[in-house]
Amino acid sequence: MRQRIGILTGGGDCPGLNPVIRAVVKRAAVDGWEVLGFRNGWKGVVEGDFTPLDDNSVSGILPKGGTILGTSRTNPFKKSGDLDKLKNTLRNLQLHSLIAVGGEDTLGAANKLVKEGVKVVGVPKTIDNDLNATDYTFGYDTAVNIAMECIDRLHTTAESHNRVMVVEIMGRHAGWIALESGLAGGADVILIPESPVDIEKVCKLIKKRHARGKTFSIVAVAEGAVLKDQEVIADQKLDQFGHVRLGGVGQVIGDLIEKKTGFETRVTVLGHIQRGGSPTAFDRILGTRFGVKAFELVKEGKFGYMVSLQGRNIVAVRIEEAVGQLKTVPAQYYEMAEIFFG
Ligand code: F6P
Repeated sequence: MRQRIGILTGGGDCPGLNPVIRAVVKRAAVDGWEVLGFRNGWKGVVEGDFTPLDDNSVSGILPKGGTILGTSRTNPFKKSGDLDKLKNTLRNLQLHSLIAVGGEDTLGAANKLVKEGVKVVGVPKTIDNDLNATDYTFGYDTAVNIAMECIDRLHTTAESHNRVMVVEIMGRHAGWIALESGLAGGADVILIPESPVDIEKVCKLIKKRHARGKTFSIVAVAEGAVLKDQEVIADQKLDQFGHVRLGGVGQVIGDLIEKKTGFETRVTVLGHIQRGGSPTAFDRILGTRFGVKAFELVKEGKFGYMVSLQGRNIVAVRIEEAVGQLKTVPAQYYEMAEIFFG
């Protein structure tokens, strides 16, 4: 029998997942290995829901956003019995091992599974770019470019109407997308979770800018930003990994700016637009290189490891190094960005 591996994509989707799947299938074919794709993240492994993947199934998927396998935020350790079901699936299908493509939660589960004797290699993904032990995750570059283009578009309408435009950008615990799209798009103020928002200071910056003749301002806000002495703004729903759903801070900040400055203010929430559509060249290439390397780690038996970008090289690091602590924006980087505020 040919050697057989499984692949799954878990957590929030992001552009670049399909290039990873394609690269794993194509690299595996070179050695004559079979690949099974599990549907909807860990859920597919628990339920034994899979589809065989070959050259034809991955043809044409390189430029497509999302994931042909589907995804979910299922935690295989949440419901009793799921872990046994997952192990049964792997045994029944006589799988050599699994490649898990995901962010902190999916890889955190992968790491726990390795301790349970399951053979897993990880591939890091998240548009938030907040995973440790890799310089970048794919999906992030696409999200930054989309957000930058939106900021460019908001500039022309802000300028025509003499308005303040607040744009809420994804980033749960780390403000990477807001910071770098804000820098690239020339936002006048950027607010991120790493630095609690001083609303008086923000309004002062905007007033100063308008006093020197500017008639509009763009404020980029990460969804996880917090006002000083206030909680993060979220609804009550939790996912299986215990994360709250964020959203709403842009409106709160927009209302405060309008009230305190008297300038007409509008709020735009970019939401899932940032995760949709075609990956950039950077993300297609990173996903491709990650997929090839992940298969090679499987062959080397490096379970409990994940692929990682370090400088220009793709290397293997322990999954443990990536999960547990998030990679947030360093204070010096944010201070540098502040030069351009106001
Ligand atoms: O983790 C990626 C991410 O896009 C975050 O930026 C965002 O907070 C979250 O996922 C949204 O999750 P969902 O797609 O489940 O609404």
